[in-house]
Amino acid sequence: MRTLIANGTVVTAAATVRADVLIEDETIAAVGERIEAHADLVLDARGRWLLPGGVDAHTHLDMPLTDAISSADDFESGTVAAAMGGTTTIVDYATQARGGTLAAALEDWQERARGRAVVDYGFHMIVCDPSPAVEHELDELVAAGVTSFKLFMAYPGRLMLDDGAIFRALLRARDNGGLVCLHAENGPVIQVLVERALAAGETAPRHHARTRPARLEAEAVGRAAALAEVAGAPLFIVHLSSPEALAEIERARERGVEVLAETCPQYLLLSEDLYDGPGFAGARYVMSPPLRAAAAREPLWRALADGAIQTVATDHCPFRLADKALGADDFSKIPNGAPGIETRLVLLWDAGVRTGRLSMNRFVEVTSSAPARIFGLYPRKGEIAPGSDADLVIWDAERTATISAATHHSRVDYSAYEGRGVRGGPETVLARGRVIVDRGRFLGRPGDGRYLRRAARRR
Ligand code: URP
Ligand code: ZN
Ligand code: ZN
Repeated sequence: MRTLIANGTVVTAAATVRADVLIEDETIAAVGERIEAHADLVLDARGRWLLPGGVDAHTHLDMPLTDAISSADDFESGTVAAAMGGTTTIVDYATQARGGTLAAALEDWQERARGRAVVDYGFHMIVCDPSPAVEHELDELVAAGVTSFKLFMAYPGRLMLDDGAIFRALLRARDNGGLVCLHAENGPVIQVLVERALAAGETAPRHHARTRPARLEAEAVGRAAALAEVAGAPLFIVHLSSPEALAEIERARERGVEVLAETCPQYLLLSEDLYDGPGFAGARYVMSPPLRAAAAREPLWRALADGAIQTVATDHCPFRLADKALGADDFSKIPNGAPGIETRLVLLWDAGVRTGRLSMNRFVEVTSSAPARIFGLYPRKGEIAPGSDADLVIWDAERTATISAATHHSRVDYSAYEGRGVRGGPETVLARGRVIVDRGRFLGRPGDGRYLRRAARRR
């Protein structure tokens, strides 16, 4: 099967060029000014931008929270939503069960995705119950293509690891080419603040943010960077939310520590006043780290533009409103997380590219090429070049939409951006050469997404 995308303008992280793209089966065969070749399908991209498919390296699909509650999207609905928004690759977080092996967790998540995913997927591994045997397994995971491990400095008694365990994982990653991803918030101090708030009768969603101040994110980032420095290992900070934490990263970089950072649209676009919404509405935005002061957003945009923040992922972790209600009388029981997998590219384009905060090339870099590179998928993903997977988005800069739970493809029953108008969006989305979205219609098939064995970092 040969597909020719003609007359478009190719936008990569490195350049913007008028070019046709020829696809042979699943792969890009040629990129050139005018390609004269027989094709079974010709897509006219005149007046459109041609982008590499988005890479969302932080999702939580089908993630169990309790025996009765899981995140609202499974690998089918979650990846359909991703595809409808122009994302053609996800890296989801598999989670070790307490007392369980990492191999069992990986098999569990493979089972969740198999036959359901409509776009390609890889896995990180959340390690929450370390032991010498589990440490040993980290090497096997890397060999299986799971080349990044998420560790938590928050959620004591559930997910949190102490500094010694984090340090041991950093040493292991240094030697096996893995990458440690850290949820950086000082969990024990947050626990004290939460206990004191609840004892004072402060049970509403707004107290979620008040008990997780940015300084405690910054403290954890600074501590993690020191551990990485002593271990001689790189470090990836997930869902960075505050300028205070960013300053710690920059301080560590000045000492030569390799610290990479991801932020999310919610920290660029939303702010903590949403926790003061009527009734229990603030619960929709309960996520960790929490939304910050409105003044925190511009420094994050600047850091994204100037390269201090490397990637934008969603941390898509949607819980239905009925599940959020678990915390109706106690904010600390509200399931943490919010949806976003479908709206990452449109929001970043509308609020980033259209406003001049980001160039189109930087947009491609932070949403596709950089996550592909950092997580061992480049140049198969995140690039438009011969040999890369034909994951492509024909992007219409004039397309308009109003974001709403009534029209989104996630199974969650609210949107964090309800009613927000956006300009710019995907017209056609191709995943390994197949058209899976065309003008708002989903044409893909569950099970067509493939597991991605990711490469380790070069040591
Ligand atoms: O609140 C959040 N972010 N929930 C998802 C899990 C995590 O910490 O990334
Ligand atoms: Zn986290
Ligand atoms: Zn997350």
